[in-house]
Amino acid sequence: MSNNLVTVAYIAASALFILSLSGLSNQATAKRGNLLGIFGMAIAFLATALISQGYPIQLSSIGLGVLVGTLAASRVAMTAMPEMVALLNSFVGLAAVLVGFAEYLQPSSAMVGMEEVIHRIEIYAGVFIGMVTFTGSVIAVAKLQSIVPSRAVLLPARHFFTISMLVAMVAFAFPFVSATGNEGLIPLGILTAISGIFGVVIVMAIGGADMAVVISLLNSYSGLASAAAGFMLNNDLLIITGALVGSSGAILSYIMCKGMNRSFLNVLLGGFGEGASTTSKKAGTAEEATATNASEVVDVLESANTVVIVPGYGMAVAQAQHAVAEITRILRSQGKQVRFGIHPVAGRMPGHMNVLLAEANVPYDIVLEMDEINDDFSHTDVVLVIGANDTVNPIAQEDPTCAIAGMPVMEVWKAGTVIVVKRSLSAGYAGVDNPLFYRDNTLMFFGDAKANINGVLTQLAAKTEALVAA
Ligand code: TAP
Repeated sequence: MSNNLVTVAYIAASALFILSLSGLSNQATAKRGNLLGIFGMAIAFLATALISQGYPIQLSSIGLGVLVGTLAASRVAMTAMPEMVALLNSFVGLAAVLVGFAEYLQPSSAMVGMEEVIHRIEIYAGVFIGMVTFTGSVIAVAKLQSIVPSRAVLLPARHFFTISMLVAMVAFAFPFVSATGNEGLIPLGILTAISGIFGVVIVMAIGGADMAVVISLLNSYSGLASAAAGFMLNNDLLIITGALVGSSGAILSYIMCKGMNRSFLNVLLGGFGEGASTTSKKAGTAEEATATNASEVVDVLESANTVVIVPGYGMAVAQAQHAVAEITRILRSQGKQVRFGIHPVAGRMPGHMNVLLAEANVPYDIVLEMDEINDDFSHTDVVLVIGANDTVNPIAQEDPTCAIAGMPVMEVWKAGTVIVVKRSLSAGYAGVDNPLFYRDNTLMFFGDAKANINGVLTQLAAKTEALVAA
């Protein structure tokens, strides 16, 4: 394949990636955006495989990757998607580390003088970012899977330890850059080990509700790792895609920080959400909560004019979105105003609830973000909270010492009646008890979200049919 053709293929792929990102920014165009991204990636794969020597090996390894990736993606449950994304981020990080070592041991082109120094710095930075991304993402997967505690785990003298690691990494850069032969392997190996520990320490130090920001931040780091690999391999397309992923991930992290009322700098340095382990006192007793059932929920919904549905992680676990969409359709057909309120960190990955609601064909125009709907709760008749907990917890505004203090939440308690669908009175992801469940205007509809919502749907549909027939 000629160099000109490769350049054209890379430009086409880059343009498709940019169009893909712009498509993904809106639910209505997200599917098209995804397809454009896939198309761009196919062009990039083919062009890269065809320019490399020994392309049968490249093509077969790409083929194997496509097979494993397709199988894994088609089998993964929607609830395990965040773990899968974090795992894929870790692969990108590990790939950058391996590319760094390979480039050091066998540079793809001969370099001397300043060019070689710059190339060594690229390798050093690439291995650092890659290793932090790798171990940080592995810890994120472990936290999401509850293999390690989701609360913040802090080392004694953490800041001293972190600064020492950063100083050591900078110090070892000098012998690496000036090394001759394979001598640089020792400082590079030490950098790899320290960066690995650094990734573990910063992600372990982030707890509870703040893990949401870490997921998007690691995504951004994985983009930086690919861009670093692009610099090492002198591959323009890798630099462009890495920069796109890195910058869009950083923008997403910034938006999520704003949504969580956290400082972006704190996130970058790690170690926030530290109160997570300290505040989990009971907000009430089981007797103080008012339990309800499907027929009462149907009555409350039927007497309402305005309804807001606030979904959370429990809706994703139960896969209740289709039944929720059907209830929405029936209530809207009765002339009621039904809207959805989505918290920026509801669920376990950015846009989690939007994806589920889109899958269930809920119209996009009734799905609103927290900022768009929060002021409306005080004149809403009924709020149906389905498997959400931290994101509707009023304690965030009431107790400045709790783990989610200051995090903006959906102010559902301001509505006439709040119906909460969940299995028990237990705390959410951040481990903070929720006083909403014990409020006078809250009805607790205990049970699995899918079973409960299906129960409501059956009764609502039967009543509506009877009305139509009468
Ligand atoms: P959570 O606070 O995680 O609460 C979910 C609730 O769903 C649980 O309290 C659980 O209560 C209930 N539940 C679980 N399975 C259920 C089922 N089958 N049927 C009915 N209910 C069920 O949810 P949220 O309000 O969506 O908040 C998300 C949390 O995760 C935030 O703290 C956020 O920071 C964090 N987080 C978010 C992300 C992203 S990027 N979105 C990433 C990592 C972490 P029961 O056990 O009583 O049923």
